[in-house]
Amino acid sequence: MMNFLEKRILKDGVVAKGNVLKVDSFLNHQMDVELLEDIAKEFKERFKTQKVDKILTIESSGIGIACMCAKEFGVPMLFAKKSKSINIEGDVLSVEVESFTHKTVNQVIVSKKFIRPQENILIIDDFLANGCALQGLISIVQQADAKVAGIGIVIEKGFQNGGKIIRNLGYQLESLAIIESMDDQTGEIFFHKD
Ligand code: G4P
Repeated sequence: MMNFLEKRILKDGVVAKGNVLKVDSFLNHQMDVELLEDIAKEFKERFKTQKVDKILTIESSGIGIACMCAKEFGVPMLFAKKSKSINIEGDVLSVEVESFTHKTVNQVIVSKKFIRPQENILIIDDFLANGCALQGLISIVQQADAKVAGIGIVIEKGFQNGGKIIRNLGYQLESLAIIESMDDQTGEIFFHKD
């Protein structure tokens, strides 16, 4: 049985060259807010046993999803900012994140005052590929002496190694759709079944 997100990916997702899945008609450019609401409800269900004090994501396309999750959990949403500059001023937690897709390095920063020691942080993002962005967010939570309550991902590319790395670190990683393979010639998308 396919879930609501897998169905939507099959309906509106487009397989592009280089193992890229385009979901810009409903998830990360134009956004279907009702779908985002369903996504948030699903995360609430999957993390119902966890104490969550705050939702953390990274700009830019994680923000909309994280906002809906914050509403669902009844907690604030915080997004990490990407900055090209090496001179980071003030009281910030920062980490360098490399993007395999874009071949760039960004400084990712969060103001120290927004993550308190012992806070329970649920990390949310739209895609998990190699996991660099996610490892950066985990590092920021650790620098603040806070706890990762869990990690919610909308679409995991199961054929890239991010999911394996993060699960091996022992975190509860919940991906709503895991793509096993896709074919830009035929447009076919296959999901992981558990
Ligand atoms: P990683 O963080 O998991 O290591 O991934 P990677 O460097 O490969 O990905 C870089 C960017 O590309 C991320 O967004 C990620 O969400 C996005 N991405 C990765 N694979 C896909 C894909 O198949 N389809 C789409 N649409 N996006 C993908 P970003 O550049 O950090 O930022 P933003 O788009 O959120 O601003």
